[in-house]
Amino acid sequence: TTYPRITQTAKYLPDKCVTNQDLPSWLETSDEWILSRTGIGQRFIAETENTHELCTKVAQKLLKKANLSPLDLDFIIVATMTGDFGMPSTACLVQGEIKATQAMCFDINSACSGFVYGLSLGEKLIQSGSYQKGLVIGGEVMSKLLDWQDRRTSVLFGDGAAGVLLEAVAGKSQFLAEKLGSDGSRGQALQARPFLINNPWVKQEERLSPYLTMDGRQVFQFTLNTVTENISTILKDNHLLPTDLDACLLHQANLRIVEGISHKTEIPLAKLPVNMERYGNTSAASIPILLDDCVEQGILKLGSEQKVLLTGFGGGLTWGSILLSL
Ligand code: ACO
Repeated sequence: TTYPRITQTAKYLPDKCVTNQDLPSWLETSDEWILSRTGIGQRFIAETENTHELCTKVAQKLLKKANLSPLDLDFIIVATMTGDFGMPSTACLVQGEIKATQAMCFDINSACSGFVYGLSLGEKLIQSGSYQKGLVIGGEVMSKLLDWQDRRTSVLFGDGAAGVLLEAVAGKSQFLAEKLGSDGSRGQALQARPFLINNPWVKQEERLSPYLTMDGRQVFQFTLNTVTENISTILKDNHLLPTDLDACLLHQANLRIVEGISHKTEIPLAKLPVNMERYGNTSAASIPILLDDCVEQGILKLGSEQKVLLTGFGGGLTWGSILLSL
């Protein structure tokens, strides 16, 4: 019997690094304000590469690391809310670039939970027996979605992409459990780029921001209540104590959220790696970037059977955790 397994990780960041000091002067912000409230010190910003180009770099790295041909891929899933077009999907653009002609490709939009949702879907595709190999990539160019006049949101985000190669492999299952959820009734807490009805029969009167808008306090409360409960439930259902985890990779929104979740779930801070200081909030890319950083630094090792929880949360509202025996 074969089971879905993460066999490679990779990330790609655009070249331009913008520190808190480098932010436009009109924002009237400071390194001290941003660092103390969010833990963010810098972010990478795309100047020449759009979302599909960042994701293509990740796909190429994953194939190279695994010594695979693009023709070996059965699917490509890209989690993004900042695709280059409404259509074609970012996943299809990646496919076209790398010539993975045997793959079926689609995007999913679950905002900052996107990678966890995509990984859950990828696992199911392989579990079905119909697909053997695929890529799950989270990629965002958040900088094109931001109001660069608004210091409350523009300082928080960064651009980047990362992902994993999933393969059907003989042995034990790596995916132990998952628990995903959504609450559309709280969707107004995080919104971006409305597509309003627009045709000759409509008199356009509604005014909505074309940029990302956020109710920061509501999002903070959501993470402390719903996301904490999600983590505690998946641990309890699987008879794990918070200290049994080797690591919990949280979506990297904000250091205070990580500290709050640690406090409420009793997962020690030492088991909650953070990297938002370096990348900012990269939405669907944040968890796979963190996973790849941890693998590169030797904190996590694929095949080690370390118990790792991946937890995403964000717009929708959406949230979800996947428990892995890495
Ligand atoms: N620089 C300087 N001052 C600022 C900045 C800034 N970048 N941003 C806001 N301020 C000011 C505000 O204008 C306000 O000033 P005022 O009182 O004179 O009006 C003051 O700081 C406080 O603003 P608040 O928005 O109330 O700040 P708060 O303490 O709530 O912190 C924050 C904001 C950090 C966003 C917080 O609400 C938070 O952590 N929320 C979680 C949301 C989050 O992380 N979202 C990420 C995207 S969503 C996701 O990934 C799931």
